[in-house]
Amino acid sequence: ATRAMALRWLCVLLLALPGAAGDCLQPPRFQFAEPVSVPQLSYPVGTMLRYRCRPGYVRNGAETPDITCLENSSWSKKSAFCIGKPCGQPDIKNGNFHTDTDLRFGATVTFTCHPGYQLVGSPFAECTLKNDQVAWNTIPFCQIILCPPPPKIENGQLLGESDAFSFGMSVSYRCNKGLSLIGDDTIYCTVADGSQGVWSSPAPECKEVKCENPQVPNGRRLSGFGSEHTYRDQVTFECNIGYSMKGSRVITCDANSTWTPPVPTCTQILCGRPPQFPFATPMTAVKDKSEFGTEVTYHCNPGYTAAPGKSSVITCQSNETWSAADPDFCVRQQCSAPKVEHGAVVGDVKEFPYETAVNFTCNAPYTLKQNSAKCVVAGDGVDWDPGDFFPSAEVTCPRPPNIANGQHSGRSLEMPTPGVTVTYSCKEGYERLGNASITCTDRGVWSRPLPRCHGVWGGRKGAGCPVGSQLTVERRGWLWSVR
Ligand SMILES: *[C@@H]1O[C@H](CO)[C@@H](O)[C@H](O)[C@H]1NC(C)=O
Ligand SMILES: *[C@@H]1O[C@H](CO)[C@@H](O)[C@H](O)[C@H]1NC(C)=O
Ligand SMILES: *[C@@H]1O[C@H](CO)[C@@H](O)[C@H](O)[C@H]1NC(C)=O
Ligand SMILES: *[C@@H]1O[C@H](CO)[C@@H](O)[C@H](O)[C@H]1NC(C)=O
Ligand SMILES: *[C@@H]1O[C@H](CO)[C@@H](O)[C@H](O)[C@H]1NC(C)=O
Repeated sequence: ATRAMALRWLCVLLLALPGAAGDCLQPPRFQFAEPVSVPQLSYPVGTMLRYRCRPGYVRNGAETPDITCLENSSWSKKSAFCIGKPCGQPDIKNGNFHTDTDLRFGATVTFTCHPGYQLVGSPFAECTLKNDQVAWNTIPFCQIILCPPPPKIENGQLLGESDAFSFGMSVSYRCNKGLSLIGDDTIYCTVADGSQGVWSSPAPECKEVKCENPQVPNGRRLSGFGSEHTYRDQVTFECNIGYSMKGSRVITCDANSTWTPPVPTCTQILCGRPPQFPFATPMTAVKDKSEFGTEVTYHCNPGYTAAPGKSSVITCQSNETWSAADPDFCVRQQCSAPKVEHGAVVGDVKEFPYETAVNFTCNAPYTLKQNSAKCVVAGDGVDWDPGDFFPSAEVTCPRPPNIANGQHSGRSLEMPTPGVTVTYSCKEGYERLGNASITCTDRGVWSRPLPRCHGVWGGRKGAGCPVGSQLTVERRGWLWSVR
């Protein structure tokens, strides 16, 4: 019998173990609800377990408060079927409350007061349970902030006396006749450091204020005429033409009977020396200082000419600077395009302004005596320097040709010019045929024909007859002559 008992207990234990097929274990715990029945060790599949809302909570609409033990030994899932009871909006006059959640059981709120009010009590409250009902555990209140009585002043009166001065109230001051009120005539009760009642500014002061009549040499008044000036009176000035103002146009009579900012002065407008340009010179003598409105006219330097439509006049301006000149009011004059006979200008040059330099090349057989020129000032305009370079292209002949068995006199000639003559002579034993000289012609070629050197009979040993030469033997009396 004891063995049978032991076996039965083992079975119960096995069934109670987690994961035992078919049974659910501990039902889930909720903050807002508890099971109606007494808890058991395990529940068979299909068991429906009922919950009831804990104190402070009520049923959430139609959500059923039941859970079921499922086939896989777990309890069915449930959303919140009980929610906190509502505490309602906390009532605070002259203030506000704030919460990050809702206003139900367990919620917390923070209180603040409107400006000018001070919080009395705890700034935090919680929706708590009291005698099965929910309510805010504490509610503070907002108390209006009070200022101390406003200060009294000498030589004046305080208007708006009262027993207490609370936030937002104002009082005014008035000075005795003939005195100026310095400061604010009305002050009001405000708050400092969040809770301290203070007056918006110190009480004003009553005193006699009289500023002397301001004088500005070389200037005149635009407003504030008259000679009596008291507190806060303003005078506006303007300088005469040709003068500029140092200081403020508008001055105000201050509480100390002085003008603030100080009375301005008018100083003469003077420009410094007019600007210099590389291409122009002032037409009149320049001075170190020129009055406002002075005009300086420039004329263009040699090699330049006035640019059409551009002004060469500058003016001394009110800010003591010279007006800006039209940029490049003088432009470079142009040289005419060089016409080079038997040659060309180096490079693709189309314009030849003042100071331009050009190089030339010549077509063979012409060479250059002068291979460059520059556009320079000439009289009122510009011209090429040197001026006669264009026909300077010169004809030269090549080196004189050599001939067989002869020599010429022009071996040291580098560039023979037209008219130069070269004379040929033949080696010993050779005889010249044709003119002895050739001349370099205007066309750069040597005159023709060239002389030739022929071998002669009885000449030096080894000198034979030239190929193709003919020998004619004649008998003249007792002489034979050979040609
Ligand atoms: C059991 O079954 C339900 C419904 O079929 C499912 O939602 C749940 O996730 C299952 N639980 C486990 C632990 O497998
Ligand atoms: C008036 O003069 C006093 C003393 O010189 C100076 O402290 C104060 O700032 C002045 N007030 C004004 C408005 O200039
Ligand atoms: C002077 O005045 C002219 C014209 O009003 C202005 O263009 C120029 O910038 C001023 N120069 C200076 C240095 O303020
Ligand atoms: C002209 O010739 C000079 C000297 O040979 C050279 O320095 C210069 O660059 C040349 N100018 C032009 C425009 O070809
Ligand atoms: C030889 O030279 C003379 C003078 O230089 C010239 O007048 C003459 O025409 C020349 N004769 C020939 C054949 O070239």
